[in-house]
Amino acid sequence: MRVLFVCLGNICRSPTAEAVMRQRLQQAGLAERIEVDSAGTGDWHIGKAPDSRTQEAAKHRGYDLSSLRGRQVSADDFARFDLILAMDAANLRDLQRLRPAQAKGELDLYLRRFGLTEDEVPDPYYGGSEGFEQVLDLLEQASDALLVELKGRL
Ligand code: 4NP
Repeated sequence: MRVLFVCLGNICRSPTAEAVMRQRLQQAGLAERIEVDSAGTGDWHIGKAPDSRTQEAAKHRGYDLSSLRGRQVSADDFARFDLILAMDAANLRDLQRLRPAQAKGELDLYLRRFGLTEDEVPDPYYGGSEGFEQVLDLLEQASDALLVELKGRL
């Protein structure tokens, strides 16, 4: 099974979602069976490491994002991934436009899928440090819920 997390730049929210979920899968012994990746709808940060503020905040909670590199989502991703999870409503709309008609991959808004208190992971890029903590708080909760779903689908 393959899961793709998507945000705008692929340097803040979606790489965090990827790293948190990968850690959950490793802890559950499922890293070999479930593949996770991330991508951005935009093309500004292709090949770039995650934002330094994102890396720093994640590192404090034990997630290492240093080896990740930005990439842009492509039409092929809809054939490759079983589940594509958008961080916010704008990302979801962009993905719906890109999605080929016969695509097998399911598309959803990550937090809304699991009925968390927020529907969207707010973009932390232009804000202060609390935004990066909130991203981690929301994505840790969502990852726990996603792990339960994925275990049920194996
Ligand atoms: P992300 O955050 O979508 O969570 O990676 C952003 C990163 C960069 C930009 C916007 C959002 N940007 O405008 O460059």
